[in-house]
Amino acid sequence: MTDAVRLRPFVVAIDGPAAAGKGTLALRLAEALGLPHLDTGLLYRAIGKLMAERGFDLDDPLLAGQFAEALDPEDLKRGDLRGREAGELASRVAVHPPVRAALVQFQRDFAARAPGAVLDGRDIGTVICPQADVKIFVTASPEVRARRRTDELLAKGREVAYETILAETKERDERDSGRAVAPLKPAEDAVVLDTSSLDRDDAFVAAMAIVAERRAEESA
Ligand code: DC
Repeated sequence: MTDAVRLRPFVVAIDGPAAAGKGTLALRLAEALGLPHLDTGLLYRAIGKLMAERGFDLDDPLLAGQFAEALDPEDLKRGDLRGREAGELASRVAVHPPVRAALVQFQRDFAARAPGAVLDGRDIGTVICPQADVKIFVTASPEVRARRRTDELLAKGREVAYETILAETKERDERDSGRAVAPLKPAEDAVVLDTSSLDRDDAFVAAMAIVAERRAEESA
């Protein structure tokens, strides 16, 4: 940010369900605003992957919490965190309160550094950065999200059926929204951006307009 009079970091929180397009959007916003970006899903993905490959029980909250405590930021650079399998593992470890508690400070520290940051996840606007300057809840119908995901996988040469991806999408939504701690839901002051009928460019333009509006309100 080049706003010379602004002393505190400018924080943009992007939340939403799996495959709503929030990752791409957060990255583009971060680039456009000149801010660092944290994909917080990678934290949960790395824990799920590390536990699974070492044969540990992902449903054990205390054990998963220890993995979260020991997480090294270098683990986020692994090349195998973006796929479907890691997403499923992440969703399982993300239900455990000790895991979430162990990751709070890392995320808040990331957001607190000048000039600010764009963070995307499930609970950024509600739990991690409730004071964020801008909160956008990016969503789309499960059918649209499953269709996009299926097309992406088919384009990569993977053999997948739309019905399978739709079932996985709904199951993940249920787990992320139904958990007791930090469930997926829009913050009360979030702007909901439904991308069901928007392409990536339209979504980016709409999000930039939301940011501009908030900045104008703040400086009014
Ligand atoms: O955004 P993603 O698909 O990379 O997230 C993978 C899983 O991690 C998601 O199903 C739920 C969990 N997650 C979370 O609970 N809180 C976050 N801030 C980010 C991800």
